[in-house]
Amino acid sequence: MIKIAITKGRIQKQVTNLLENADYDVEPILNLGRELQIKTKDDLQIIFGKANDVITFLEHGIVDIGFVGKDTLDENDFDDYYELLDLKIGQCIFALASYPDFSNKNFQRRKRIASKYPRVTKKYFAQKQEDIEIIKLEGSVELGPVVGLADAIVDIVETGNTLSANGLEVIEKISDISTRMIVNKSSFKFKKDKIIEMVERLEDAQTN
Ligand code: PRP
Repeated sequence: MIKIAITKGRIQKQVTNLLENADYDVEPILNLGRELQIKTKDDLQIIFGKANDVITFLEHGIVDIGFVGKDTLDENDFDDYYELLDLKIGQCIFALASYPDFSNKNFQRRKRIASKYPRVTKKYFAQKQEDIEIIKLEGSVELGPVVGLADAIVDIVETGNTLSANGLEVIEKISDISTRMIVNKSSFKFKKDKIIEMVERLEDAQTN
């Protein structure tokens, strides 16, 4: 049996489509009620959880495979896994964003950067050898510059609509984000054939 954790919500829908295209039994997922754990005819046991919890389940060996966004992986301390497939769904970027005059401004103090992703933000500015102040916001991060709390933000940009609706723009792209299939290292040792088979079937489903 292969145990899988899928991030609830948008990723769940996209992964379900891909599993269906790869000829896996997705009936129990489509008929999901309030239950949090299901079994399929292909001997898959699937649980559904919040993105960070998918990583926690995989870290503790509760599941063999996790489907989770690269944004969550980048923000999480745990990195002892194999990333076997980029599902190329949920594509967006991490970016530094602010008002258009940000780059020409002369700051006489540390820049204040608002983000829901302090780890990603810290790493990005550490690479630039720039000391900044991080202000953690839980959502609607664009509010940081809008209300004057922050000079810029590090956030996810998909269509760019939220930025432009608030007079902001991408100052610099940081990295690409999409849904990834990650695998517990010891699971890969013991269930290699089944896991490789799933990777191959999903890859085929992507191209068809
Ligand atoms: C995300 C992100 C941006 C927005 C970007 O927020 O934090 O705010 O989507 O999308 P866009 O480029 O297509 O406009 P989300 O909707 O997940 O909610 P949040 O702001 O509460 O985090």
